[in-house]
Amino acid sequence: MKTVLKSHNCGELSAKNIGEEVTLSGWVACVRDLGGIIFLELRDRSGFFQLVADPQINPDIHAVFSKLKTESVINIKGKVSKRPDETYNPKLATGEVEVYPTYAQVLSEAETLPFVLDDENVSEDVRLKYRYLDLRREFMLHNLTLRHKVVTAMREYLNGQDFLEVETPILNKTTPEGARDYLVPSRVQEGKFYALPQSPQIFKQLLMVGGIERYYQIAKCFRDEDLRADRQPEFTQVDLEMSFVNQDNVISMVEGLVQAAFKAAGVEVQLPLKRITWQEAMDRFGSDKPDTRFGLELFNVTDIMEASTFQAFKDVIAAGGTVRAIKIPGIAGYSRKDMDDVRNLAISFGAKGLAWITYMETGEVKSPVLKFLNEEQIKEIQTRAGAQNGDIVFFVADKPKVVFDVLGRFRLYFGKKLNMINPDDHALLWVVDFPMFEWSDEEGRYMAMHHPFTSPNLDDMDKLKSGDLGNVKSIAYDIVYNGTELGGGSVRIHSPEVQKEVFKALGLDDATVQEKFGFLVNAFRYGTPPHAGLAIGLDRLIALLCRTDSIRDVIAFPKNSGAKCLMSDAPGEATLQQLRELHLKSTVKK
Ligand code: AMO
Ligand code: AMP
Repeated sequence: MKTVLKSHNCGELSAKNIGEEVTLSGWVACVRDLGGIIFLELRDRSGFFQLVADPQINPDIHAVFSKLKTESVINIKGKVSKRPDETYNPKLATGEVEVYPTYAQVLSEAETLPFVLDDENVSEDVRLKYRYLDLRREFMLHNLTLRHKVVTAMREYLNGQDFLEVETPILNKTTPEGARDYLVPSRVQEGKFYALPQSPQIFKQLLMVGGIERYYQIAKCFRDEDLRADRQPEFTQVDLEMSFVNQDNVISMVEGLVQAAFKAAGVEVQLPLKRITWQEAMDRFGSDKPDTRFGLELFNVTDIMEASTFQAFKDVIAAGGTVRAIKIPGIAGYSRKDMDDVRNLAISFGAKGLAWITYMETGEVKSPVLKFLNEEQIKEIQTRAGAQNGDIVFFVADKPKVVFDVLGRFRLYFGKKLNMINPDDHALLWVVDFPMFEWSDEEGRYMAMHHPFTSPNLDDMDKLKSGDLGNVKSIAYDIVYNGTELGGGSVRIHSPEVQKEVFKALGLDDATVQEKFGFLVNAFRYGTPPHAGLAIGLDRLIALLCRTDSIRDVIAFPKNSGAKCLMSDAPGEATLQQLRELHLKSTVKK
């Protein structure tokens, strides 16, 4: 007869099972010796179950249990019985029942764990080093379970909409997302490298040329970027692409997808979602991923400052800059030190300075810039701000990018500090009408804001051709949830002429285009359907649904901020033999 290790899951047993013989296996969560009687909490993925060993009733089992170390794996058999009323535990799903085992076997004895599983303060480094133990914690199991449910719901939705799930290669040529590639040296092709995909972008477009019409994939993507709480070097996208569609078609398809995903996490989403243009998002929230759960909106005072006598601001405006402001309510009582801190915060966000007007509770108005403004200007600022006694209005003058970035971060800082964000709110929205290009000070040229296959708004073709790149809009859209960019996509270019213009604008000559993306550009010569798509950052979505700040909490085996796996110690060293086979030389001195 085969040994049965498990007839039931711990967490499933209830009063319905009373009298049944069961075989259970799991981990010893805790052992309590109460006056000679041992109560053991057995844990498996489904939950906890109480086992009892009484020297008068089951002495052999008592002998085994009294030597057990927690987190050992055991197997028991016995009959489910009703707990005496005094030990009834209504908090536990299985709190009405217990088993006095008649058989117990230790399947694997555990050494003392490097940390206590329910210790909330254990450092993340320790958790990551022993991730297999960390995964035993309820929190991690909950997160991975939710991830599974959400992915299942998304797959079901897309399958129901006639999408085909297609896998695309991991060993690739460089991809167009614009981050740094992870390279893999080729042994067979000396001196050549594969790039790991930053996304399946090119392949999904080729699938459209190939007639697949509706594609999706739960795709691993790799980007060698500076890491943050919401960025991993390898992460997962729910990636999709559709043929014969426009922006509205993709948006409504993705809205259904997101609604299904949220539903699987118990959150109802009302459709359609709001849409705001990129420009409005910047003007009002200073961010292309606005958190609209609270106010503190920015406002424009460039015209007022231009007419003032404040030379520093006038110079900025004359050089094409802008002056924007934000009103923070109820902080007029800030001390000098508080104001210094606020100023330093603005400077740490990239501001050159911070000006303000304080509306004191007494009605007095104080400001280092008051002397540059006439009565009418002061009044107009107060009207635009809607400022009342007790409020402070802050001003930043600079290039638009800097002003929006500083005030956008300022807004988030005060939103959190003043507890203005209701964590139960769900603010999902679309940001549309992105600029096609973004000026890069570092590179000294315009770069694609999304990627070079994003379609410009066809009304802006003249601007594209005449080099007025800063004013060309694209048909790109991002979906934003509570201030995080969940996903992004665009209508793609399917006309070789338009593609040529965009490459030209990006300063990519024919040879570079052929070398980098030739296979895509060539494919477009043989009948290309108009197509569009989007990718959702799955890790970010799940982290938000689990209400954790870090995507590491929803990835089974993540890397730390140094792109290192603390558990396996990856990346590891290569032997000289391996390097030689790959035609590489190490420059690292041993
Ligand atoms: P994009 O580069 O905007 O678009 O990526 C789509 C989404 O992926 C998530 N994401 C990340 N998540 C974790 N760690 C990272 N390092 C990381 N980088 C991005 C974000 C983001 O919104 N091919 C296009 C999509 C398209 O045009 O269809 C693309 O990859 O949530
Ligand atoms: P100043 O006359 O240079 O001492 O500046 C007066 C106030 O304006 C100070 O509080 C400065 O911090 C502030 N300030 C100067 N430059 C800027 C700027 N670019 N943006 C916002 N505030 C500024």
